[in-house]
Amino acid sequence: MRVIIKKNYEEMSKEAAKIVKDLIQKKENCVLGLATGSTPVGLYKELIRMHKEEGLDFSKVITFNLDEYYGLSPDHPQSYRYFMDINLFNHINIKKDNTNVPDGKVPIEKIEQYCEWYEDMIKKVGGIDLQVVGIGGDGHIGFNEPGSSLNSRTRLVALDEQTIKDNSRFFDKIEDVPRFAITMGVGTILEAKEIILLANGEKKAEIVAKAIEGPITSQISASVLQLHPKVTIILDEEAASKLKRKEYYKFASEAEKKIGLRLF
Ligand code: GLP
Repeated sequence: MRVIIKKNYEEMSKEAAKIVKDLIQKKENCVLGLATGSTPVGLYKELIRMHKEEGLDFSKVITFNLDEYYGLSPDHPQSYRYFMDINLFNHINIKKDNTNVPDGKVPIEKIEQYCEWYEDMIKKVGGIDLQVVGIGGDGHIGFNEPGSSLNSRTRLVALDEQTIKDNSRFFDKIEDVPRFAITMGVGTILEAKEIILLANGEKKAEIVAKAIEGPITSQISASVLQLHPKVTIILDEEAASKLKRKEYYKFASEAEKKIGLRLF
């Protein structure tokens, strides 16, 4: 697990964008796994800039989003499909048909079938090359709340009280926050060939420290990233403030730069 600590949110976002850009340039028809929430907005802004100013080409890129609120239609302003359109897809030359966000309006009796289909679609295109994840206040990735099996697949989940509270800032009132969501499973996420986790701000410091330096536990879904062979955690200084090995991570990043090798 590689941990990179950047000065601030902007630097964190730029570092992540560099990794995404390198991949797109290496493999033009790459498959990206994308996340929502406030954390990746800066990354998406930087990718838009790279497209507009440097000609970064998304025309063959395929994307799969981690999750969607159950019950919200794609044009609902708080749906994750809407979020992706306004924060990224509408500003780059990606084909909308190549962008996949779980459908929050699938009839309940078709959910299982739909989730299997979503997984099949990922397999059909050869799997996810690079998955971007944020981290919820309770350690969730996607919407894999505490207790999600390490082998869990795409499915309908109930949201925890803390998540509903955390995400209520985007809604008019807490009662409007959906109680359910469709999310890729922890097992699905772990199958990505490479994963980057982004976190910024003091509010994330404690959960980030637990996820990176604590034991692997299904009570903190992000901790299972410790099992993956190619994970990069990119933090700003505030989110890194409770890490015990901070100096070591900084030293390792510097060493990487010097010798030009990734020290996973
Ligand atoms: C939601 C999303 C997660 C995201 C988390 C953190 O719950 N399902 O994918 O990581 O929010 O959000 P934020 O980045 O706004 O802190």
